[in-house]
This record gives sequence, structure tokens and C-alpha cells, in this order.
Amino acid sequence: MGKDAYILGIESSCDETAAAVVRAGEQLLSNVVFSQIATHQPYGGVVPELASREHLRGIVPAVRQALEQAGKSFADIDAIAVTQGPGLAGALFVGVSYAKALAFSLGKPLIAVNHLEGHIHAVLLEERQKGNHELRFPVLALVVSGGHTHLYLCEPLAAETGAETGAAWHYELIGRTRDDAAGEAFDKVAKLLGLGYPGGPAIDRLAKHGDAQAVKFGSAQMKAPMRGAKASTAHDFSFSGIKTAVLRYVELNGMQPSIDARRQALAGKTRPTVEEYLAVTDKRTLDLIASFQRSVVDDLVAKTLDAAREREVATLFVTGGVAANSELRATFEKRGAQEGVPVLFPSRALSTDNAGMIAAAAYPKFVAREFAPLDFSPEATLALR
Ligand code: KG4
Ligand code: ZN
Repeated sequence: MGKDAYILGIESSCDETAAAVVRAGEQLLSNVVFSQIATHQPYGGVVPELASREHLRGIVPAVRQALEQAGKSFADIDAIAVTQGPGLAGALFVGVSYAKALAFSLGKPLIAVNHLEGHIHAVLLEERQKGNHELRFPVLALVVSGGHTHLYLCEPLAAETGAETGAAWHYELIGRTRDDAAGEAFDKVAKLLGLGYPGGPAIDRLAKHGDAQAVKFGSAQMKAPMRGAKASTAHDFSFSGIKTAVLRYVELNGMQPSIDARRQALAGKTRPTVEEYLAVTDKRTLDLIASFQRSVVDDLVAKTLDAAREREVATLFVTGGVAANSELRATFEKRGAQEGVPVLFPSRALSTDNAGMIAAAAYPKFVAREFAPLDFSPEATLALR
């Protein structure tokens, strides 16, 4: 069943209104993402009420465009998949309400998807699209985004069909951040340095122009797991210390006036070019940015590889918004090759929030006929199991 199942995915958990059509979890026919960056930028971060309002505005056109680009009509769609959580309550509510209304009026099944499961399935979608149907298990997935830094051991449950595409999946959380998510650290440090929102892409581009060895962040700022930690905490992360260390460095070196000048120069620019950034960023700041990124990347890679070794995993997935980071990708590729573990990433477009990943994650549930009742609720803190 279902090789020609077309699933319409809807994603509205944070600041992206997205819709996509995916065939059988393996072919992305369209992937429409309406970004809300311009709306939230003046506030330096996502304003939940504004996010809900923008989702309300964008959801109908996003779905219409996704169908148009896929060359499909509502009648061709076999199921409607939507992000149930985790995310901003009001933002999730818009997507879930619209998906329910569509499912009800079209008489199509509704599938509730965990956003984190979506990020994991973004990798699977693209591997299948490339013709790779031979994944080796167990898989360890690092989901690293603005809201999460989580390590999951992933495995399909015994598949009736024998193929992993048809099986429901099981996830075991083996590590997570104890405080800030890695993407949150990128965003907070960027904001602190007057680089605007969102911070990850700006830091990624500017770090290439700085010396990553210039500022030493001690291991105290990257807390290691406690000695004798239980298995559930042994692979935990922590990113609040390094953010404080950056702030202290800024204060000690009297960098505030240049930060204020940069903030003013970049105000009102939605996507500054690298040249525009470089024109207002001195060498000390570039070195700080590069050193910060290096520390975060080294920590993510080292702890993930420790976990991979300990749990004897066959394949690593790195996914979520921060997986778009070029230094993270390069370091994982190099260190993964040294350890003999293949590391798979989604393309950049499927690393950050999108609805293709939601439609892909819904496919095994579609095959298993795991449908959501029309009265299911969005859950801001939904856990992945
Ligand atoms: O997955 P995502 O789009 O939304 C969440 O589920 O959170 O991730 C957004 C996060 C933001 O913190 C953003 O700064 C970060 O991903 N990000 C990056 C890059 N692109 C996006 N962080 C580092 N380098 C990047 N190139
Ligand atoms: Zn996300």
C-alpha cells in the first residue's frame, strides 16, 4: 500500500509557515516556506503573538502554492499531515486547526507529526530521493535547532513489509541540552554582538573571516557530563556558559560602543550581505565569532561521537536548523570519516523548518494507518518516543 501515496504536510511550529507535497516519503514534489524573519527582526527574536498572526495570513496561500507547484489538487492528496508539537502553542494551533478543517471537509485522513521526528525524517527523505534505501541501523540522530539539542537513537519497529519505509519508528532520547539549545546560543551571541536575528546564518558566514584559535573558551564553559552520570545524562550538552563567557569577553575588552554602532548600521536590513557585515565588524569581533563557533561545533561533534561509540551506532544523522552550519558539517564529515561512521545531513533547505519533513515523517504512519482523531490538540512540549 501507498507507493503512490501523496501526503500534504503543514508546519507552523515556530516562525516559518510551510506546506509541501511528498510522495511515499521519498519524493519531494513541492516545499513552500514563508519565512517570518522580516516580521520578527525588529524585536531581535520570535514574538509568539506575531508568529500566530503571520501563520494565519500565510497558511492558505502556502498550501495553495504547495499543491500548485506539485501539480496536484486536493482530490489527489491521500492524507494531511501536520506538526502537533513541540513549538509555540499559538503557532501550532493555526496549522493544526487548518489541517483539521481540510481533513474534515475533504474526508481525508489526518496525521499528527512530532516536529523533531520531522527533522529526523528530512534526512531519510533525501537519502531515499538519492536512491539510498540501504540504511544501516542503529541510527543516532543529533537534532540541533533553535529549540533543541537532542540525541536520539532511532530504529524502525519490525516492519510488516520488511522495508524500513513502511515501519513505525521508535526513538530513545540519550542526551539533551540542560539549558540553552545550540541554535539559541548562536542567536543570543549574535544578538549580543549586534548582528541581528536570526544569528546562526550570520555567525556561520562571518566566522570564516576570523581566527578560531584567538579566544580560548575553557572546558568549564562547555560543561562535561558529571563523573558517574547515569546513562540518561551522560551525553548531555550545555550552552549557557559559553554565552556568558562571550558577554564577559565583550565587557572586559570594551566592545560595547562598536556593537552599538554595528546594531545601528544594520538596523532595518533584513538580509545584510557579508560585505555589509564586514564593513561594520572589526577583527577582534570576527575572532570572537570564529572562536565561539569553533567551541560549539567541537563540543557538539565530540559528545555526539562519544555517544555513537558507546552505543555502537552504524549511521549518524545531523539535522535541524544548526545542521545548516558549514563548520559543523565539515567537522562532522571529517571526524565521522576518521571514526568510520557515515554522517548524513539534509540539504540546507531541509535542515531548517519546512513541511516536506513533516509529510515524510507521516508516511510510515500512513502505511500503519495511524491516524489522528479530529479532536486531537497541539502540544507545545510534545515529547518524541
Ligand atoms: O530548525 P529550525 O529552523 O527551527 C527550530 O526548530 O528551532 O532552527 C532554527 C535555528 C536558529 O537558532 C538559527 O539561528 C539556526 O537554526 N541556524 C543556524 C544556521 N542556520 C540556521 N545556526 C548556525 N549556522 C547556520 N548556518
Ligand atoms: Zn525545527
